[in-house]
Amino acid sequence: MIISPGCATPPPAAELTRARRSGIWRPLLGPCGGVRQAHGVIPRQRSGQRPRNDPAQYDDLAGQWWEPRGAFAMLHWLATARAALVPPATRPGAVLLDVACGGGLLAPRLNGTGYAHVGIDMSASAVRVAREHGLRYALRADANELPFGDEVADVVAAGEILEHVTDLPAVVGECCRVLRPGGTLIIDTIADTWLARVLAISVAERLPGGAPRNLHDPALFVDRTALVAECARHGVPLRLRGLRPDVPDALRWLARLRADVRMVPSRLTAVLFQGVGTKNLPGERG
Ligand SMILES: C[S@@+](CC[C@H](N)C(=O)[O-])C[C@H]1O[C@@H](n2cnc3c(N)ncnc32)[C@H](O)[C@@H]1O
Repeated sequence: MIISPGCATPPPAAELTRARRSGIWRPLLGPCGGVRQAHGVIPRQRSGQRPRNDPAQYDDLAGQWWEPRGAFAMLHWLATARAALVPPATRPGAVLLDVACGGGLLAPRLNGTGYAHVGIDMSASAVRVAREHGLRYALRADANELPFGDEVADVVAAGEILEHVTDLPAVVGECCRVLRPGGTLIIDTIADTWLARVLAISVAERLPGGAPRNLHDPALFVDRTALVAECARHGVPLRLRGLRPDVPDALRWLARLRADVRMVPSRLTAVLFQGVGTKNLPGERG
């Protein structure tokens, strides 16, 4: 369904024009950028709570994006782990597309990497916060239908989004479509396993630093085999590795002796995991 979004304030016209000329933007549908509405709301409401995966939660929590001990604390730690996978830019004007950029947590972590950081998100409040925190090219759009031409991005980062969408093949297809051959796809998300349901829902939603109550719908957790197959179908061989909070860091964070928690690699991909892949060059098979 096409919705007519309450338009978020657009980036300054001159910047948009420059970005359009450079081929980053494809003209959007409608006068203020029509987007398709995510259809991932599965009502399971307890009284006073929003349904699981309700996009309105991001508006309720808009003031929390940049609170290091707030509802999105763990997203800060994950953004650091994601940024560590971003390769150095190989050409002037290289573009990193941040799919579902949220409040723009990746922005300061990309300083000095040489990328033009472009973010899209469904949530108008998140886009506003992202712009306020230095993500100049932030736009309200749907990951199911990215408003960009083919092969425009050197890096596509899709962090903590795939577990929120109902059409995984569509979003993965879009991420791969906009990626240049030789470009890097970086994903982090939650696996569709019983262990993830226990840890990410039953445990983490009750712990400080864990996801806010009802943010996730376990029905949308990601089948790793299907994800790898979908990326391969679009010419991106994806390697997976698990990710977990460093336990001593987490204890020190809880005791307020540390400002953040390092996310460390793990062989277990059954809960949180990262995926990285390089898009095949023409004629190449990965
Ligand atoms: C858990 S947050 C992750 C934000 C950011 N990637 C980060 O790690 O800090 C999920 C984000 O996905 C956005 N989102 C959900 N469905 C979307 C869709 N179909 N298209 C674009 N953004 C979407 C939400 O608005 C929210 O900002």
